[in-house]
Amino acid sequence: MNPDLAPLERFRALIASRIGLQFDDAKRGWLAEVLRRRSDAHREPCEAYLARLERAGAGSELGALAQELTVGETYFLRNIDQFQALREQVWPQRLRAQAARRRVQVLSAGCASGEEAYSIAMSLYDLLPAAGWELSIRAVDLNPAALDKARRARYTAWSLRETPPRQLQRWFRAEGGEYVLDDTIRAAVHFEQRNLGEDDAELWVPGAYDVVFCRNVLMYFAAGSAQATVARITRSLAPGGYLFLGHAETLRGLSQDYHLRHTHEAFYYQRKDAAAEAPLPEAAPALPADTAGPALAAAVEGADSWVEAIGRAAERIRVLTEHAGAAAPHAPERSAKGWQLALGRALELLRDERFAEALDVVQALPPASARDPEVLLLHAVLLVHGGR
Ligand SMILES: C[S@@+](CC[C@H](N)C(=O)[O-])C[C@H]1O[C@@H](n2cnc3c(N)ncnc32)[C@H](O)[C@@H]1O
Repeated sequence: MNPDLAPLERFRALIASRIGLQFDDAKRGWLAEVLRRRSDAHREPCEAYLARLERAGAGSELGALAQELTVGETYFLRNIDQFQALREQVWPQRLRAQAARRRVQVLSAGCASGEEAYSIAMSLYDLLPAAGWELSIRAVDLNPAALDKARRARYTAWSLRETPPRQLQRWFRAEGGEYVLDDTIRAAVHFEQRNLGEDDAELWVPGAYDVVFCRNVLMYFAAGSAQATVARITRSLAPGGYLFLGHAETLRGLSQDYHLRHTHEAFYYQRKDAAAEAPLPEAAPALPADTAGPALAAAVEGADSWVEAIGRAAERIRVLTEHAGAAAPHAPERSAKGWQLALGRALELLRDERFAEALDVVQALPPASARDPEVLLLHAVLLVHGGR
């Protein structure tokens, strides 16, 4: 770290490199307060505190910082469609893939106060095949206060605002104005304090996980940190394993190692499985001019919504252009965080049929985005809806 940088800038850069989190200029005043508070807590000047943060083993201080800096918003069965896809699409496939090993492992990365990991356990509880199978749900977060709350497993009605009454009745009992989670579900989840911003060999065991949930975490990360974290997730996912991101998050510009999947009104990703996929010929011949038309039509047939059609068509275009070689147009690198988020926002607006607002968002994207199939398709749909 450059010691000539002003202390506040060093602090901001250290937060990004050690934890992954990115804060823009509007947060400078607040960050300065956090820096002062943490230096005071150690009774040392901020220069000494920054040197402490720079040292490799600053584990407990990173936890204390996470407590100050992170957003812990979460609730049970958040984006419930994803849990439906987990039960009905992802789970049967992973059971087939692990038939010999009889062990399935799920990771909730950035689990906050536990609602996500417990939702996974509730969703899968009835779906384990008979005896002899082991389900392990590992849930990690850097914030120790959030993990304490997760282990207590007592929640307010607000955390259960999207939980259907049947699930509420089955897995919770009311006690002193709170809802206490059933011991069976509590016992299925193992919580640990881990830093997703680090190359932690015990967490990122190669090929260890069948499914990773990392939702609403990467959206707060600097682009480089998000990319490094996705690379670690990819390494630790079994080939053919699944990754669930948050509603407004995407792997665009972060990784080419996944297929985008869309079922049950939910988007999620599947790690490419080199062994199961036909290898490309050494020099793939260009596809005949009419190949993209029928293939695209087939890809979007039966799509329930424009958002689904755009997702499927963009994936199809990506596959076709990969096969056609480097000469074909393909999505440019989309590492700029603002662009990914804006695209997610525009798709959300389209889903809500707020066409004019979605068009404003798309038209404000940087010029480089115009070569991205998903952006192009979205733009076309919005222009059609606007009667242009
Ligand atoms: C908004 S919550 C998301 C909770 C849950 N995944 C969901 O979608 O409902 C983000 C969580 O990521 C955690 N987090 C942020 N940076 C982290 C890091 N470097 N290592 C581990 N956890 C981190 C925060 O502490 C916070 O609990």
